[in-house]
Amino acid sequence: MRMYDIIQKKRNGGELSSEEIAFFINRYTNGEIPDYQASALMMAIYFRGMTDAETVCLTECMADSGDRIDLSRFGDLSADKHSTGGVGDKTSIIVAPIVASIGGKIAKMSGRGLGHTGGTVDKLESISGYKTELSPDEFIAQTESVGMAIIGQTGNLVPADKKLYALRDVTATVESIPLITSSIMSKKLAAGASTIVLDVKVGGGAFMKTERDAELLAESMVNIGKKCGRKMAALITDMNSPLGNNIGNSLEIVEAVEVLKNKKTGDLRDVCKALASQMVSLIFDISLDESEKKVEDAIVSGLALSKMREWIEAQGGDGRFIDDPSLLPTAKNSLDIICETDGYITSMNAEKIGIASVMLGAGRESKEDSIDLSAGIVMNKKVGDSVTKGDLLATLYYNDLSPEKARDCYLSAVSISGDKPTENPLIYKTIR
Ligand code: URA
Repeated sequence: MRMYDIIQKKRNGGELSSEEIAFFINRYTNGEIPDYQASALMMAIYFRGMTDAETVCLTECMADSGDRIDLSRFGDLSADKHSTGGVGDKTSIIVAPIVASIGGKIAKMSGRGLGHTGGTVDKLESISGYKTELSPDEFIAQTESVGMAIIGQTGNLVPADKKLYALRDVTATVESIPLITSSIMSKKLAAGASTIVLDVKVGGGAFMKTERDAELLAESMVNIGKKCGRKMAALITDMNSPLGNNIGNSLEIVEAVEVLKNKKTGDLRDVCKALASQMVSLIFDISLDESEKKVEDAIVSGLALSKMREWIEAQGGDGRFIDDPSLLPTAKNSLDIICETDGYITSMNAEKIGIASVMLGAGRESKEDSIDLSAGIVMNKKVGDSVTKGDLLATLYYNDLSPEKARDCYLSAVSISGDKPTENPLIYKTIR
């Protein structure tokens, strides 16, 4: 078999065999196939697409390129979620304890933030003592005893994706549905859960900018996941404006606790409930109505909050922040942003607001940057709210820097007009 022939076949619109796909993935991962041939194939796939059979095979081969986590001891109870990333997205920290309190088993690996989007692992690091690294045995044992664990990505999971994603990033081949599907789903397959719920974000602050593109990606991932033997659901959720009110690592932990204390209504609670309900319905094979009731009960009864405490403490964290948020990293300085006109908030550009939080130190521009866990933004007004001159729009939290650029960036992200806007739906579609 020759790589040249595989590239030529795909370039001419042919369907690759499973042997050809396995040949490419195995030899590219171990360095026998050079980047220039792999990029030619990525570009051919970008233009020619892949059949379902090809995408399933590519996804499985990529998942097999490294370690796979074995969650088989949990049977149908194991579940995972994935978000395509957004601003203010702290849903994992809320959804996982809800589902674990109902009996699901969540052994979750999460990532760090980059650019305008945050990462769950950074957020959890703002909790004193919390261990984001556990040995494989500890990870499984904690999932068994507590019902959940969240750690950073460890081990040699899907090395094929690490190489391919870096290559696609510099060869203009990221935006291909079969390539994105295989990239995301190979990592989810390797992580081992039998139920996978996807939160595909759509809008200005998201990777998928249009509803149609988000829908195509969600349908493709659900389809491939099912063909690979997993129970699947995807929600397409709005990311034109940030989710919830708080952006920044410790600030987002505070907001997650407020939801689990049942002290907060609104978009964040609604998206978390929808994601958790999909998970619970798939895990226990029950109707969505029944699972929605269980999820609401878990929040209202405080069981999900107790599960959060149990999880954080099992993982070495000091759980006292749940009663006393001042124990989390707190910024020395704050700056209020005051509204200068009357009207309605018509849009809040999530990407620009994410960038403003990076300017305050809450995120990183490159992988090597360090972050300020206490920095961030608390938004007091959101899209659809009426405002009058002098109202507090948001508060910026920061330490040893000057916040003017971040303030200007925040202000440039917020549009105010005299007409009440028609709001975007929060959940555009559910695909199962
Ligand atoms: N996120 C991924 O993990 N992979 C892609 O290809 C695109 C987004």
